[in-house]
Amino acid sequence: MLAMKVLHVVGARPNFMKIAPVMRALDRRGVHQELVHTGQHYDPSMSDVFFADLGLPRPDLHLGVGSGSHAEQTARIMLGFEKVLSERRPDLVVVVGDVNSTLACALVAAKMHIPCAHVEAGLRSFDMTMPEEINRVLTDRICDLLLTPSEDADENLLREGTPPERIRLVGNVLIDALAAHVDRGRAREPWRVYGQKPGGYALFTLHRPSNVDDPAVLSRVLGAIEEVQREIPVLFPAHPRTRKAIEALGRTPRGLLLLPPLGYLDFLGLTSAARLVLTDSGGLQEETTVLGVPCLTLRENTERPITVSCGTNELVGTDPQRIVAAARAVLEGRVKTPRTPRFWDGRAAERIADALFR
Ligand code: UD1
Repeated sequence: MLAMKVLHVVGARPNFMKIAPVMRALDRRGVHQELVHTGQHYDPSMSDVFFADLGLPRPDLHLGVGSGSHAEQTARIMLGFEKVLSERRPDLVVVVGDVNSTLACALVAAKMHIPCAHVEAGLRSFDMTMPEEINRVLTDRICDLLLTPSEDADENLLREGTPPERIRLVGNVLIDALAAHVDRGRAREPWRVYGQKPGGYALFTLHRPSNVDDPAVLSRVLGAIEEVQREIPVLFPAHPRTRKAIEALGRTPRGLLLLPPLGYLDFLGLTSAARLVLTDSGGLQEETTVLGVPCLTLRENTERPITVSCGTNELVGTDPQRIVAAARAVLEGRVKTPRTPRFWDGRAAERIADALFR
C-alpha cells in the first residue's frame, strides 16, 4: 500500500470538505497522493477559499473545465481526465459525492481499468430528474469500492444487486470535516458581521435546479422566506446560479440579507449558531443533524433519509404555506431531538484508509 499511488478528484464545492479528511488520513499512513481539480467550480468563493479553510494542498493538476451544459461539462472533464490517467497511471482513483466531476472521472477510470473508490456511495433520492441521482446511480455501478455513510446506503446498493464485497460502511466524512473545524468556525463569530447573535437568526440556502431554474418555483419559495423573515432575520448566502436567477426575476427578496457565497469556516460557524436552517442542500441536512440545529429541507425527497429518521431534518417541499408553518413551529419551540447516526463520529476517513489498505 505504501508504494501505491492514489489520485483524488475534486470539482465542485461539496467535494472539498469530503476529500480533506481522506487525504489527511492517507497522509498519516505515508501514502503517495495526488489531487486533481476539474475546475467545475472556479469562482474563488466557490473553490479557493475552501482550500485555504480546510488546509487542502494545492491541486497537482487543474483541468479548468468551467461551466457548460451537462454534456459539455461532463465531456470536457472526461477528455481532460483521460489524459491525466494516461500520464500519471495511479493505482487507485478516489471520487467523492455526486457532482458531474464524480461521474465523469469514475467513467474514465473504469474504461481504463483503473480501480476506483467512491466516497459517499449508495445514497438514493429515487428521483431521476435530479442530475445528482443519475450521477450517484451510475458512479456506484462502475466503481470497485463503495464506501458508504450509513446503513440505508448499504441497503440501496444490495437491493440493486451490488456484490456485498464491494461495499464498506465507513460513516460520514463530511462529519469528520465538521468535527475538525466547527470550533474554529464558531470562534470567528461570523454572525457579528451581519449584526446577529447566536440563536437569533435563520440561515437559508437554495441552489437545486428544480428550485432555482423555474421562475415560478423560485418566486414562490422566496415569497415564503419573506414571510419567515417577518419573524426572524434570515441570512441568505446565494450560490452564483441562484443570484443569476434572482437577478433574472427582477425582484430582490424583501428584507433578506442576500450574501455572497461564504467560505467553509464562516458558513459552518453560522450554521452551528442558527436557530433554524432552510435549505435544499444535501450536506447541510447532515451537518444540522449533528449540530442539533432544526433543518427544513425545501424538497419533496432526500437521498439522506437518516437525517429525517434520526436527525433534525424535515422535508417541507416548496409550498409556501407548508414552509411558513414548519418554520413557525420551530420558532415556537416544536423541535426534534436528534440522535447521531452510527459512524458519524469524525472517524470515517480512518475507516476509509483501513478499507483501502485491506
Ligand atoms: C453543482 C452540483 C450540485 C452541487 C452544487 C454545489 C452537478 C450536476 N451539480 O451544482 O450537485 O450541489 O454544485 O454548489 O455537478 N457558477 C459560477 N461559478 C462557479 C461555479 C458555477 O458562476 O464557480 C455558475 C455558472 O453559471 C454555472 C452554474 O453556476 O453555469 C451552475 O454550475 P454547475 O457546476 O453546472 O452546477 P451547480 O449548480 O454549481
